[in-house]
Amino acid sequence: MEKKVFIIEYAKGSDKGFDGFRPDSKPILNAIEEIAGFKTEIVFYRPNKKYELLDYLKENAHSVISRINPGNLKGVDEYFQFLKALSNSGVEIHTHPDVMINLDFKDILAKLKGTKLGDDETYFYHTYTDFVRKFPSDLAKHDIRVLKTNYGSTGEGVYLVSKKEDGSIFTVEAVNNEKFYYDNIQEFLEKFEVKFDPDDENAAYFQGKTGFVGCRYLERIAEGEVRVVLVNDKAVSVVHKKPQDGGFSATLFSGAQYNYESPEEAKWKEVVKLTKQGLKDIKPFLKGQSYPLLWTMDYILDYNKDGSDKYVLSEINCSCVGITTELQYAKDIAKVFKKK
Ligand SMILES: Nc1ncnc2c1ncn2[C@@H]1O[C@H](COP(=O)(O)OP(=O)(O)O)[C@@H](O)[C@H]1O
Ligand SMILES: [Mg+2]
Repeated sequence: MEKKVFIIEYAKGSDKGFDGFRPDSKPILNAIEEIAGFKTEIVFYRPNKKYELLDYLKENAHSVISRINPGNLKGVDEYFQFLKALSNSGVEIHTHPDVMINLDFKDILAKLKGTKLGDDETYFYHTYTDFVRKFPSDLAKHDIRVLKTNYGSTGEGVYLVSKKEDGSIFTVEAVNNEKFYYDNIQEFLEKFEVKFDPDDENAAYFQGKTGFVGCRYLERIAEGEVRVVLVNDKAVSVVHKKPQDGGFSATLFSGAQYNYESPEEAKWKEVVKLTKQGLKDIKPFLKGQSYPLLWTMDYILDYNKDGSDKYVLSEINCSCVGITTELQYAKDIAKVFKKK
């Protein structure tokens, strides 16, 4: 029987079109049918029907494109194991869970420390004990620091923390620019404790993944974020995301402006070059799998010592990058499936 290329979505979520599917899923599959000659199908992942789905996909799938934001799923570990089981039975998985667990979470920023993509001041506070021990001195360095929950997306759980002269602490959350004040660092640390989840002992994938990644605050966020969109190891687009005036958050929901441009444009030469060079530093985290099918690397500008521009990696997304407004990239994705 002829095997198909599948997209797996989650039944629920704010990312759906009028027909219940992500608006870019069908265009991606149509391109795969046209360009790569595969038959295709979209299925929903439902935790209570996962064994039936597993059997169905083992029987019918050549490849599976997973398009579920781990943030929308309660049993993410279970879902990753489901994908792993499919992979073990010979189905090609995009993005493979061994890759997602490494690249799609913020702790990759700490793991890339010492490479061109990493910043020396990045640190992953895995436990609350570690946070209490280390965060106060890290904050004291510039009196301002960014904290990102390891699992977050769309600005949720990303905080800009600053210390005033009188020792009081002020935080802004990127998702909604919501502000909080604390009398001193002790009060801040105490109130922050609830945000640290314990490790799930039964998890196969999610060991050592809870906590927050601390990053140097980059004030040039005011100029926006630069996103390089990749299909496997090829940059297909550069997006300039500009926050609303005075805002800290460059996420779409916060009202940031998006412009998609060609990676060939002269102004993006540096960031595209850095991305290409950075691929070799990312390679060890692929655990022998290929680069994600459709993924993004986001950068914020900083200055080199000589005053020239420097791009600092601020996150990688590889679980379900959307291309709804830019469906031409469906063709680039489809080419990956051309029968070898
Ligand atoms: N180091 C940083 N300096 C300044 N602003 C930052 C920094 N890191 C993140 N931000 C801001 O916080 C927002 C959310 O952070 P991000 O790492 O993109 O997480 P996510 O999009 O997954 O929530 C970014 O869009 C940016 O506006
Ligand atoms: Mg982001």
